[in-house]
Amino acid sequence: MANPGIIKHPKDTVLAAIKRAAESNAGVASREFNLPHATLGRWVRIYRDGGYLECEDGTLHVKSHLVTEAPPDPNEPIDELLDRKEAHYKRAKAFDQFQKWREIRPTISGPIGIALMGDPHIDDDGCNIPLLREHVEILRETEGLYCINLGDTTNNWVGKLARLWANQKTTPADALRLSKWLMADSGIDWMAVIYGNHDLWTGEPGQGNPLDYIIASKTEAHLWEAQLKIVFDNGLEFKIHAAHSFPGHSMWNRIHGMTRAQKFGPGDVSVYAQGHHHEWDIHTGEDEDTGQRFHLIKARGYKDLNADTYHKRGFYRSQRYGACPVVVIDPTNAKGIVSHAFDDLAQGAEWLAYLRR
Ligand SMILES: [Fe+2]
Ligand SMILES: [Fe+2]
Repeated sequence: MANPGIIKHPKDTVLAAIKRAAESNAGVASREFNLPHATLGRWVRIYRDGGYLECEDGTLHVKSHLVTEAPPDPNEPIDELLDRKEAHYKRAKAFDQFQKWREIRPTISGPIGIALMGDPHIDDDGCNIPLLREHVEILRETEGLYCINLGDTTNNWVGKLARLWANQKTTPADALRLSKWLMADSGIDWMAVIYGNHDLWTGEPGQGNPLDYIIASKTEAHLWEAQLKIVFDNGLEFKIHAAHSFPGHSMWNRIHGMTRAQKFGPGDVSVYAQGHHHEWDIHTGEDEDTGQRFHLIKARGYKDLNADTYHKRGFYRSQRYGACPVVVIDPTNAKGIVSHAFDDLAQGAEWLAYLRR
């Protein structure tokens, strides 16, 4: 159907002329309304066939000889949608880049320790609360000792797994109170918290996860992994790549995922650390290409009473050590930065206190 273009008359005039032409003929209507005969004839054909007439004050929708106004477009104009998406992308990109080797500057000089707290599952009946309380005391009392939570702060069961709350001695509300004690009130100097699979069941960081509100004034939340660059006041740097878990698994090698990450990584990372599998191991090595000394540290976490059906049927066994390994970093050594990894938090804390004496 031919498009008559934008008609330089208001809708009421166009509609009245069409009706007059339909009642008599286009010649009569063109004289009465002082409109070109051919033009009016075109409008009438559109009116009969159904279609749109774009008038100077809006669009007439002519369909089956019923005339209505075209509905307003309920959608955001495409340019505004593109502008909004562009602004969001730029913000997200800036955040993404900021998170890559995020700089952390200790507020004290000299050696520091970074404890790598394995999965707390603090609400689980199998969580070793005596050990956790002992570690909280060490973390609170040792000068220069910071901590990274490697994820799975609580069981946080949702969906089908929510039935498991029924046989546990902790309610979901108490689980949140325990999280708040550990993450906000315990006195631990948190360097970062990573959200593991259990934490993420209630949302990614910044998407309404209850942990967001608990840790808000204490530390930063990281989605699954954190790449941190510790910058000491003498300018020396120390990179830590911590994650809830790294890709890759081997029944013969507990640190297979981190070995893979180190092999394919930039070669200047000092520590790879993870939790998730509730087992521990530590390996110290040297990158043959860069000469970088590195530690691969897997933290066991605190859930060591494997008395539930899941663990019995899987023949899972708990180790005793490595719940919260620690790496002690000395940036004041004449050789440059020197670091040592300990599977036992207390021993690492003693070494740190010795270095800081
Ligand atoms: Fe876990
Ligand atoms: Fe996990």
